[in-house]
Amino acid sequence: MNRRDFLKLAGVSLLSLAALTMGCGSFNAAKADAPAPKVKQSTSEGASQNMNNGKKILVAYFSWSGNTKAVAEEIHKQVGGDIVEIVPATPYSETYSVTVAKAKAEQAANARPAISTKIADFEQYDTIYLGYPNWWGSMPMPVATFIDTYKMSGKKVAPFFTHGGGGVQRCMSDLKARAQGANFTDYLCLSGSSAKNSQGEITSWVKKTQN
Ligand SMILES: Cc1cc2nc3c(=O)[nH]c(=O)nc-3n(C[C@H](O)[C@H](O)[C@H](O)COP(=O)(O)O)c2cc1C
Repeated sequence: MNRRDFLKLAGVSLLSLAALTMGCGSFNAAKADAPAPKVKQSTSEGASQNMNNGKKILVAYFSWSGNTKAVAEEIHKQVGGDIVEIVPATPYSETYSVTVAKAKAEQAANARPAISTKIADFEQYDTIYLGYPNWWGSMPMPVATFIDTYKMSGKKVAPFFTHGGGGVQRCMSDLKARAQGANFTDYLCLSGSSAKNSQGEITSWVKKTQN
């Protein structure tokens, strides 16, 4: 191959690489159209057939950066039942400042962003462990959509939150106002930075929720 042919080939390879990279971009964008999250069945031992003391349990959580997800998974490990993630139909940006701004605007507008989470038979659940991060002192608005869609009235609701230093703020009071008619247990509020190492605290709280 002479030098000219080589340069031509190199040019084509670079173009292919660019096309592939763009392809990756559109693949990421297509994530928004991914199938709706399914309710995962429990595989944990001790939780016989998704029941706990004869009660059917659902752990439902929203998580943007993984802290609340870690807590939800630990709770699920301990209580059994089913687990589902509350997923916004349009994903939040992975850029912190963009998500912070969007979250603020959604709260100010009392928005109800669409969610792709589907639960076939919500009625079957007696107890809902419902968790989310403190966003601007309160709940991420996709959680408000979830609460509007899946009525908590008459159910036992065990709330858990993670935060970045502000603590519980309005997470609990706003939940109470939006999920009317639910029977709330004490809440669990963990610092996001220690969420992944809070097994002991989670265990103590879970015991209280089972009274
Ligand atoms: C949009 C946004 C708003 C936040 N607002 C607050 C806040 O008002 N108070 C607070 O203590 N932490 C705030 N945080 C920090 C999160 O509550 C904390 O990092 C949490 O553990 C994240 O949970 P996640 O990993 O499940 O998304 C905010 C984080 C984001 C992304």
